[in-house]
Amino acid sequence: MPVPSTRKLLVTAGPTHEPIDSVRYIANRSSGRVGIAIAEAAAARGMVTTLLLGPTPRAPDDSRVKVLRFQSTAELQALLQMHFPSCDLLIMAAAVADFRPRRPAGASDKLRRADTGLTLELEPTPDLLAGVARAKRESQVVVGFALEPRDRLMESALSKLDRKNLDYIVANPLETMDAEAISATLIAKGGERWSFPSDGTAFATKQSFAAWLLDRIGPERST
Ligand code: CTP
Repeated sequence: MPVPSTRKLLVTAGPTHEPIDSVRYIANRSSGRVGIAIAEAAAARGMVTTLLLGPTPRAPDDSRVKVLRFQSTAELQALLQMHFPSCDLLIMAAAVADFRPRRPAGASDKLRRADTGLTLELEPTPDLLAGVARAKRESQVVVGFALEPRDRLMESALSKLDRKNLDYIVANPLETMDAEAISATLIAKGGERWSFPSDGTAFATKQSFAAWLLDRIGPERST
């Protein structure tokens, strides 16, 4: 697939924290490693790189990466609305919550312990990736991730590629979350597929995955 001058990269990484009250939240185990590795690899190739980074203690070492922090899905949504229109390439590696508390307690409130227990009502979050991809310009390239159990990985990834109007999707199995290594399949909207690692080993580092991914979808292809 031809990718014209995708010089300005927007990448998202890490978990979201969905507030329950002023001190509690719903989160997931994402470390942000993949998105951070992609941002660093892109900056090293000369791409103008902005990383929208969730609440993780990790951060890129490369000062060429512009880092903007978010906590919740709502904050990430606001950052995407601000920065997506001017990017050439969006790589959505963040593990965005699918549900959040419908009525979180106020920012200065802390829920009290109660012997009767507590029931939280959750509402679905907006699908941020589908939202931005729906409004994308012809020249913008949008890449999503699908993190799924192996038995439904490819089927689910193909459905997300189509449903979310993506140019590419990275299908990776659940065990890659919060791990040092990754195995993945990149699928283009035309149906072309590439496996990582391509040397037949089961897993490889997230840094080598980042370089491999940019070789396939970025402007400075090394192959
Ligand atoms: N994503 C998003 N907004 C959400 C949920 C997910 O933008 N509210 C993005 C993720 O960043 C990822 C892609 O959508 O790039 C797929 O995320 P995933 O959690 O695998 O899929 P869902 O869309 O949440 O679908 P489901 O949970 O039904 O598998």
